[in-house]
Amino acid sequence: MLVSAAEMLKKAKEGHYAVGQFNINNLEWTKSILLTAQELNSPVILGVSEGAGKYMTGFKTVAAMVKAMDESLGITVPVALHLDHGSYEGCYACIEAGFTSIMFDGSHYPIEENVAKTTELVSVAHHLGLSIEAEVGSIGGEEDGVVGMGECADPDECKAVADLGVDMLAAGIGNIHGKYPENWAGLSFETLAAIQEKTGTMPLVLHGGTGIPADMIKKAIDLGVSKINVNTECQLSFADATRKYVEAGKDLEGKGFDPRKLLAPGADAIKATVKEKMELFGSVGKANN
Ligand code: 13P
Repeated sequence: MLVSAAEMLKKAKEGHYAVGQFNINNLEWTKSILLTAQELNSPVILGVSEGAGKYMTGFKTVAAMVKAMDESLGITVPVALHLDHGSYEGCYACIEAGFTSIMFDGSHYPIEENVAKTTELVSVAHHLGLSIEAEVGSIGGEEDGVVGMGECADPDECKAVADLGVDMLAAGIGNIHGKYPENWAGLSFETLAAIQEKTGTMPLVLHGGTGIPADMIKKAIDLGVSKINVNTECQLSFADATRKYVEAGKDLEGKGFDPRKLLAPGADAIKATVKEKMELFGSVGKANN
């Protein structure tokens, strides 16, 4: 069932767990994530970056594929189709394509402009029943061409943006897209606690979920994080399982080169990663609560 992310995140905040956003890249990713969510009776958010949208030939293709797959697989858990780190134009393109949720990443604009554009998009999204995420501060590293310096968000700016009526707020707290470097200082729980204090019931979003140790994830959830984004970790799992299959020469045995066989270990590896994260985030069994 494709739905906005508002209700599932409200419940997650109240229930002290987090819903995973898993980014999709193609049919295998989408199928693996949907099947795992259904098997675990967990709500889920499918994230689509602008780069991944382009790769899949456009947001309309993505929306059509996700809607049809959700139906044909008989998925009954709540699924939100969400634009990840959207530009102003990208948000409108996804609204038109039939996404159920958008993220407007205005973090690189001066705060006044971020506020003005977010305000406009909140009104459009809510009018159409979509949920909307905004970002303050920036997530470090690079994801599909979106580069951030990784500065921690200012709690007062978070409050100002939360007050615009967004459904979820991404705040930089030292998190980074991609793999964490050896010398990473860790999440700034001081910043997170200050943001939580100012924003109250607002579901907070932790980007850069790949490689954050379990104890830090748990502490972040305790401090008000209700949505955690994971992208790179599914890519690493897929690549690792595919490499093993090819290195074992399995593609050369019989019809092992058939894409349905060649891509199967990678697809199973994505399922295992998604399962592990849903268990860690506490969203298992929460689809109907
Ligand atoms: P990772 O690729 O580090 O898991 O980050 C995902 C993300 O934050 C998507 O916005």
